[in-house]
Amino acid sequence: MTARTAAGERMALVDAGDVLEWGVPQLRDLPWRRERDPWRILVAEVMLQQTQVARVIPKWEAFLDEFPDPAACARAPLGDVLRRWQGLGYPRRARNLHAAAGVVVSRHGGTMPDRLDELLALPGVGPYTARAVLAFAFERDVGVVDTNIARILARASGQRLTPKRAQATADELVPFGLGWVWNQVLMDLGATLCRPAPKCAACPLARRCAWRSAGCPDPDPAVGSAGVSTAQPRFEGSDRQARGKVLAALGTGPQDATGFDERILDGLVADGLVAVTDGVATLPA
Ligand code: ADE
Repeated sequence: MTARTAAGERMALVDAGDVLEWGVPQLRDLPWRRERDPWRILVAEVMLQQTQVARVIPKWEAFLDEFPDPAACARAPLGDVLRRWQGLGYPRRARNLHAAAGVVVSRHGGTMPDRLDELLALPGVGPYTARAVLAFAFERDVGVVDTNIARILARASGQRLTPKRAQATADELVPFGLGWVWNQVLMDLGATLCRPAPKCAACPLARRCAWRSAGCPDPDPAVGSAGVSTAQPRFEGSDRQARGKVLAALGTGPQDATGFDERILDGLVADGLVAVTDGVATLPA
């Protein structure tokens, strides 16, 4: 996407040089950034979708100690994978990851695919995760649109974007051959400066940012733009919390099903996360 200067010349939406100069020297040192193994990247990205970086780090390492490759994950019972997921929340992600490992084994001989269509065909892998694997494991020049980057794109262009437009804009911005570092830097920019409450004074995009140039008017174009997440609902007292408690209890061994809230237990059974046989609840085999 381009804007026009006062003289009517086309101008890139962002100055990639400014962004890299700002971001490369201070790239956050995160353990998955030292990796290029696509399985390890996939696991990190699935965990990072709805869980904060600090909580993911120890879980990611422990998960990969037990399931170092897709084959190890695929041959483990789902219950073991859920046990390793304990504390991360949103356990459907673990179920999908286990299923994805199964597909990698059955369809790709245990080797993670490196094509967008094949990645998108894996259970639980959407446009974000597929491109994150392409950019961060295979160092491809694709735009990765997570919530932080989606916010940047909307503000820089001064518009609420459709999913198609956000993806196309992200793809266009990647400097040739720099897909890995570009996306990492943009993630850091979104995590540190282009926050929901932005810190524009220090931002390398501020000079060209359409929203900033207009004086940051309401509404913020990031709100409701494709890929920008809304605030998570309260955890205390939520079904999500209740489900987590049931799974934690079952992680220690089988339990009498009547000890749990019936609606919560039924939901877990419907999601394939719990099995109930003869009144005894267990993690799935
Ligand atoms: N590096 C690679 N992917 C990331 C993510 N989802 N969040 C933070 N840093 C990352």
